[in-house]
Amino acid sequence: MVKKEEMVVTPWEVRGKIDYEKLIEQFGIKPINKELLERIKKQTGELHYLLRRKIFFAHRDLDWLLDQYEKGNEFYLYTGRGPSGETHLGHLIPWVFTKWLQDKFNVELYFQITDDEKFLFKDNLSLNDTKTFAKSNILDIIALGFNPKKTHIFLNTEYSKTLYKEALRVSKHLTFSTVKAVFGFTNENNVGEIFFTSMQTVPAFLESVRKEKNVPCLIPLAVDQDSHFRITRDILPKLGYYKPAIIHSKFMPGLKGVGKMSSSDLSDTILTTDTEETVGWKISNAFTGQQPTKELQRKLGGNPDICSICQYYKFFFEPDDKKLDDIFRAEKEGTILAHEHKQDLTEKVNKFLKEHQKKREIAKGRIEEFMLRD
Ligand code: TRP
Repeated sequence: MVKKEEMVVTPWEVRGKIDYEKLIEQFGIKPINKELLERIKKQTGELHYLLRRKIFFAHRDLDWLLDQYEKGNEFYLYTGRGPSGETHLGHLIPWVFTKWLQDKFNVELYFQITDDEKFLFKDNLSLNDTKTFAKSNILDIIALGFNPKKTHIFLNTEYSKTLYKEALRVSKHLTFSTVKAVFGFTNENNVGEIFFTSMQTVPAFLESVRKEKNVPCLIPLAVDQDSHFRITRDILPKLGYYKPAIIHSKFMPGLKGVGKMSSSDLSDTILTTDTEETVGWKISNAFTGQQPTKELQRKLGGNPDICSICQYYKFFFEPDDKKLDDIFRAEKEGTILAHEHKQDLTEKVNKFLKEHQKKREIAKGRIEEFMLRD
């Protein structure tokens, strides 16, 4: 018998079958309801498929942020990337959504690259390694088409003259016992790890520092990052700033099925730098949950909710709801067999990556348009 694995969702580890209802309760975050979706739609004219499909499923103070916006108090966006490896497709989900928000609301975006964090938390990575991954990840960010006039990307180790001073102000309000309680740290954690949340907090008020007036902040993120910002939200009012609003996404499932896509199991994920052959190979080994034989599949059908191919369409490769329905129905009714299903997805992914990789090449000459320097 397979033992059901316990669910763990922290910034350092995500495993087990994720129960999002339970996370809402555990984290004390709010589900995004119909009323809130209507309010967003009123401002944006349409709803992104990631909202329609409840892939962005929860929030903190998004209603407050919209109140402010309706009163003419514009907000800015903040998100980030921990450069522990090459970018995979799951990482792109919050970024694609962030770009949509930037376009719809025409607002500033701060994009923090935590090369310090990944050095501190990963035994096998040097500062040089995390910087190298950072530079590569930045190409993916730029390739998505963010507005260069309003997008500010920085590495923590490079933008440190500005960040360190602000992080100090945060850290003075943060005790070791709070960090222990929130993250489960022990006396064995290195002191850099203990300090780190102060660095991740700074961009949540950086625009207010730079503009010398309070500006509301919205942070799109994958839900594993929420605990950092529980701390942020406690501390910022003590420094005279607004608490940031947050919008949380689910994790794109890996090709092996359950859990989050993980950068450590490379055959579970598709990297933005993968070749066509690698993509074909990874998808051909994906989990579909189909019946053991063609005959049984035709007769009984499969389950799209556990089929990683169907989930790839839902999260990324089929924004059209009607077409997604057709794909799910075909899987359920057994009219599509695993190899056809995989073949179709392979074509879609490779088409996307071909374009994306072209844009990554172009991005190499555009980095400085986006970097925030001090
Ligand atoms: N710690 C995040 C990671 O490991 C990176 C990050 C920094 C981030 N600031 C953020 C993610 C703000 C989301 C929002 O990936």
